[in-house]
Amino acid sequence: MANKKHMSTNFIYFFGALGGLLFGYDTGVISGAMLFIGKELGIKAGSFEDGFITASVLLGAILGAAIIGPMSDKFGRKKLLLTASIIFFIGALGSGIGINYEVLVTSRVLLGVAVGAASALIPTYLAELAPAEKRGGVGTLFQLMIMTGIFLAYVSNEWLSPHGLFGLGENVGWHWMLGLAAIPAAILFFGGLTLPESPRFLVKKGKIDEAHHVLTQFNSDEKLVDEELHDIKLQASIPSGGFKELFGVMARPVLIMAMGLAIFQQVMGCNTVLYYAPKIFISAGFSEHFALQSHIIIGIFNVLVTVVAVKIMDKIDRKKMLTYGAIGMGVSLLLMSTAMLVLKAGNGNLGSWVCVIALTLYIAFFSATWGPVMWVMIGEAFPLNIRGLGNSFGAVVNWTANFAVSQSFPMLLVAFTPHHAVNAEGQGIAKLFIIYGVLCFVAIWFIAKFTIETRNRTLESLEADLRSKAHAKGHSEAGEPAV
Ligand code: BGC
Repeated sequence: MANKKHMSTNFIYFFGALGGLLFGYDTGVISGAMLFIGKELGIKAGSFEDGFITASVLLGAILGAAIIGPMSDKFGRKKLLLTASIIFFIGALGSGIGINYEVLVTSRVLLGVAVGAASALIPTYLAELAPAEKRGGVGTLFQLMIMTGIFLAYVSNEWLSPHGLFGLGENVGWHWMLGLAAIPAAILFFGGLTLPESPRFLVKKGKIDEAHHVLTQFNSDEKLVDEELHDIKLQASIPSGGFKELFGVMARPVLIMAMGLAIFQQVMGCNTVLYYAPKIFISAGFSEHFALQSHIIIGIFNVLVTVVAVKIMDKIDRKKMLTYGAIGMGVSLLLMSTAMLVLKAGNGNLGSWVCVIALTLYIAFFSATWGPVMWVMIGEAFPLNIRGLGNSFGAVVNWTANFAVSQSFPMLLVAFTPHHAVNAEGQGIAKLFIIYGVLCFVAIWFIAKFTIETRNRTLESLEADLRSKAHAKGHSEAGEPAV
């Protein structure tokens, strides 16, 4: 075993994280495609069907995230990543063909299942492969892929629309926009075939030699590999847990942490800001052309900031990143609201520019902190015997919060928009952003009170801490590793 050829770790990390690209592309592409889908399939704007084409991916994602956890503890991370890539492929082709509403929505639900599964699976897989001192940066590759996927979706929306580079007809372009996702899905499948299984999972299945071989790919120091393997064996000797353990006393601190991070990441407004960025620019007095172009520029900016996040992730404590991020996001949102409501942003005045700067800052803070850190932390926090299940749970909570925020936004916007005012919608958005801004400050309190620092700790030492704390409180659910 030990003399098997070693594969480049960067190659492994790249393909391990690639599912994030599909996550980003499939969630980002629909806003552009929707402009044309309705016309061809005869769907009325504002109807249930109209909303459901967008929401179907989110609902599928909740389902996908929910079923993947128990399965990944049973079948392994790699097999399920491959299965997810096949579902991605079928979903992308189906929605690209999209001959009628039913086919489109069914395919979008399927895509959602794959997106949700990837979101629960990939952070676990990457956290289990990377050595402790690199785990944050490697986990952030997932967010980098999401952002790259969103960027590619903006580009394809622009190029494949009737006025775009390829000048495709209204009834042609959107099929390509949705269908093109089949290409990265196929790449993920073939690349995924060469990936190693997670060493933690291999040990759990008694495949110690294979686990040893995988670990040596990531660490050339035999002694450290042996120590790591010893620790993993110790944790793996604890029987696999179920919901009882997930909701038990020992896992409670990480369960609360995962739920809180997953909810706050969404209620601080990331998706509405990203989604409504062009509208905000228009409300601030910029032209439609500027607004749409700026969407692409924001996409590039997102990717660049996330590259910076990959570099700094293992140098700064995760809790600090979350705190600074929440302060930055909260201040930017309040600044944006002030620019709209007090400085009366419009026609390129001071308020308009403050608005553009605040929105850019918000996105930078999100992309560098809450975007990646949330996924990294839920990927590493849970004990091995419930890791798949725990991640699944965190991802389900995140997708449900995402669904709740995106579904409530249009309704809240109507409620907050004054009837007779200049730039009424801009005022509505500004008021809503105050709510998200305040929630950013509530998040700071949550981080201080309920999160556990995970940077530079091995997954095994984090787990040992949880067990000894529960043990100290005298709870049997702590479970002792049988040495
Ligand atoms: C969030 C998604 C979001 C994406 C891009 C992820 O970390 O979980 O909801 O769409 O970042 O902003």
